[in-house]
Order: sequence, then C-alpha cells, then structure tokens
Amino acid sequence: MNIVDELGRPLRDLRLSVIDRCNFRCTYCMPREVFDAHYPFMPSSDRLSFDQLHKIARAFASLGVEKIRITGGEPLLRRGIERLIERIATLTTLSGKPMEIALTTNASLLAAKARSLRDAGLGRVTVSLDAVDDAVFRRMSDADVPVSQVLGGIEAACAVGLAPVKVNAVIERGVNDDQILPLVRLFKHTHVALRFIEYMDVGGASDWSSAKVFTAQQARHTIESEFPLVAITGQDPSGTAVNYRHADGIGEVGFIASVSAPFCGSCSRARVSADGQLYTCLFSTHGTDLQPWLSDTASVEQLADAVRGRWTRRNDRYSELRSARRAQEPRKAYPTVRMSLVGG
Ligand code: GTP
Ligand code: 5AD
Ligand code: SF4
Ligand code: SF4
Repeated sequence: MNIVDELGRPLRDLRLSVIDRCNFRCTYCMPREVFDAHYPFMPSSDRLSFDQLHKIARAFASLGVEKIRITGGEPLLRRGIERLIERIATLTTLSGKPMEIALTTNASLLAAKARSLRDAGLGRVTVSLDAVDDAVFRRMSDADVPVSQVLGGIEAACAVGLAPVKVNAVIERGVNDDQILPLVRLFKHTHVALRFIEYMDVGGASDWSSAKVFTAQQARHTIESEFPLVAITGQDPSGTAVNYRHADGIGEVGFIASVSAPFCGSCSRARVSADGQLYTCLFSTHGTDLQPWLSDTASVEQLADAVRGRWTRRNDRYSELRSARRAQEPRKAYPTVRMSLVGG
C-alpha cells in the first residue's frame, strides 16, 4: 500500500547504503583530517547481511518504493555486491513493474565490474566526478587514483549499457569551478547526463561556508557563455535535478540546487545506513533503528509496519529551513548525519 508523510509526500525512493567506507577522501565529504586511520568506521560485523538488505528492499517495495539506489561510502567495496543486486533485481513495484535499480559510485573500481553488475540486474550507475584535470581531480578526491581510471569506469558502464550513465559534479567555489566547462565539453557528445551539485553543509563538509557554494544559476551562466541551453519541460517533479538540453540538440546537463533552491516539497527519499538505521532526511541527526525487525523472527510485513509508522510521522524539510537560518548565520554549519553513512 502507498503511504504518505505528514506533508503529503509519498515514499518512492530508497537509498540503501551497503558500507560506510570509501577509498576516496573527497574534501567535501570525507576530509582526511577527520576520516583518518583512527576514525571509528562501522565494524564489518555491524553491517547488515545481504539477507537483511534484501528484506529491507522487500519491505520498502511493499510500501510503494519504485527505485532503489545502492550507495556507500563506496558500494563497490562491499564484497559480492552483485549477489545483493541479483536478489533486489527480482523485486517488482506495487504496480507490477520491475524495480528500478541504480548505484552511486566513484567509479574507481567500475571498469572491472561493469559487466558483472549489469549481468546481475543493475539498471544504471551515477558516477561522482568533480574534475577532468588530473591535478584538480586528485586534490578533491585526495586518493591515489588518476582521473583516467574513473573515465575508464564511465566508458565501461556506457559500453555494457548501464544507461543512462549520470555524472555528478559537486562544485566548490575557487576549487573546481574552472572544471565546469571542461566537464561539459567532455560529455557533450556522449549519452552521459552531467549534473552539477551545489556544495552542501552536510556531515563531513567540515570547512563549508556559504561563500564556497557555486550556485546552480552561476553554473548555468558559466555553461551558457559557451553552450546555449534550453530548459526541458515536463520533468519528474520529485527528481533532484532541473535539466536542460543543449540548444544544438546534442546532450543534456542538469543542476541540483539543494542550497539555493531546496526541493523538500516533493522529497520522496528514504535512506537506510549499512547498519540498519532509517533516516528520513539527508540532514537528520538521528536515525530509527530497524534492527529489531531484521531478525528471522520478524516478518517482512512487521518490518514494513515499522517503516510505515516512521514515514507517516515524517515532517523533515531541512534544506528549506536551513536556507532561512543561513540568512542569519551565513558561516555556520549545523550537525547532521555524515554523507558517507547515508550515501548522499
Ligand atoms: P537520479 O536522478 O535518479 O539519478 O537520482 P538522484 O538525483 O536521486 O540521486 P543522485 O545520487 O544522483 O543524487 C545526487 C546528489 O543530489 C546526491 O549525492 C546529493 O548530493 C543530492 N541529493 C540527492 N537527494 C537529495 C535530497 O533528498 N536532499 C538534498 N538536499 N540533496 C539531495
Ligand atoms: N555537498 C554536496 N554533495 C555532496 N556529496 C557528498 N558530500 C556532499 C556535499 N558536501 C554527494 C556527491 C557525491 C555523493 C556520493 O554524495 O554528490 O557524488
Ligand atoms: Fe567517497 Fe563519494 Fe564521499 Fe567522495 S563523495 S569520499 S567518493 S563517498
Ligand atoms: Fe528531502 Fe531532507 Fe533533502 Fe529536503 S533536505 S530534499 S527533506 S532529504
């Protein structure tokens, strides 16, 4: 049965994190000075098993979820992830359609895995890539991985048909805003959908300030200095991105304006961390523990009842509230769950 929250928003998307670790240390997400060798990552014994993750997926499907996105940290670090995808791929939505399954990845391990992921039933991938220039890329991702390795992962995903491949770039003013045009030029003649994301003050972004936000509007103006864009009409109202096509008809770009134009009004996303905490908002500080319903003694229906109980009391609209607070305190960051726990 479909359910709605206190603000009338249905539950449509599940973002299911399978691991809180990542082999990158993106400065806006897992800055190395915080996420160092002493950082208390989730012990692997606390990670949900594939049986438990599958049970969660079934419960959410029974409540009206139509899209499941596998996230991390870096989900391809979870051994045997294909076996989980195989099981989730057999699910159908309430209306009987196949469940849409996507995965968010930094693509460093994607070239080797693209085919087995596709064969397991994965529908598409979204790749995080913030720069084309190798030096800028390495500065932002802070890992010993060349940008060519990520580009190879994107090519492999396109080649096996994990389509449409999307690329997400977080733009930080003064750090990689000079990469906007190179990214557009690189993907313009491909079928890759490129999206620019505003830098958010979410958990992990310890040096966030509003001065570092390069807004969607600014990014669009930068692109239009070289490539005229035309708005695409009739888009999914619960989507995160506002999309444009190139005026010459070749390629698309989108903008995720979480800071300057929050989209809480249509937010239908639930997030579950790899240890079974349900978060009803990216900016939540606390989750709801689903563990009591993940043992063999509880049924999928009982788990679904617990999720329904939480979702129907949901009233989060933090991005909207934060933009109002930020006007008074422009430099202040507020505590939230860390991004690497709930996968963005
Ligand atoms: P598709 O458009 O289906 O590919 O998925 P999506 O846009 O839901 O997911 P994606 O992983 O591409 O999300 C892109 C980025 O947008 C995330 O990494 C976040 O930075 C941001 N984002 C996604 N969902 C939310 C949300 O609910 N609230 C806010 N504030 N930001 C979000
Ligand atoms: N601001 C915006 N997006 C972020 N992500 C992580 N941290 C931030 C942040 N501070 C998102 C990126 C990345 C995904 C995994 O999480 O979109 O692609
Ligand atoms: Fe890893 Fe993605 Fe976070 Fe970068 S943004 S540190 S790739 S989880
Ligand atoms: Fe949804 Fe929270 Fe993001 Fe608003 S801030 S769009 S409620 S996840």
